[in-house]
Amino acid sequence: TRIAVFCSGGGSNFKSIYRSIAEKPLNAEIVLCLSNRSQCGAMEFAHEQGIATVHITEKQFDSFDEFADAMVTRLKDAQIDVVLLAGYMRKVPDAVVRAFPERMLNIHPALLPKFGGEGMYGIHVHSAVIAAGEKESGATVHFVNEEYDKGKILLQRAVPVLQGDTPEILAARVLACEHQLYPDALEKLLAEQRS
Ligand code: GRF
Repeated sequence: TRIAVFCSGGGSNFKSIYRSIAEKPLNAEIVLCLSNRSQCGAMEFAHEQGIATVHITEKQFDSFDEFADAMVTRLKDAQIDVVLLAGYMRKVPDAVVRAFPERMLNIHPALLPKFGGEGMYGIHVHSAVIAAGEKESGATVHFVNEEYDKGKILLQRAVPVLQGDTPEILAARVLACEHQLYPDALEKLLAEQRS
């Protein structure tokens, strides 16, 4: 299975998936890292591992549709089977989502369907969870469809919200959970593909 990861930041999820593919081992290979930011940590890591990179943003094109078509073309040229969104901070064009039905996953740092949606990203999610007095939070790996954060849930895992948690402390606890969850979710997807 040929995997593309979409990243925008440090790429800690990308790195944990990369490591787990080697350790488990999973019958899959990350062959492409795509990002809207050419200098981010994820792209640096890809370069270090000799993984192909694609730096693509809407600004490089005259229209959104040309951007979307170019993204689909790059993925098809690389013969990508599965796309993993891992800290990707842009909306994936519908044309790209449609090209990978049941083959595009995203990780969200909360227990969807709660605390999802456009405004719920980064530290805001964790502030909202604490403000709501939740006793637990967690991470969710879901299939990506054309409705933001609404795709079918593949796997999720809870972590406690503890007395005195700041959004930063909770974010770190959830991120550590993500690093375990995403590889397990990928393993589940690959197993389901074989069945
Ligand atoms: C983190 O906020 C994580 O919860 C979310 O994306 C952000 C960056 O993740 N999935 P990464 O370190 O770039 O994987």
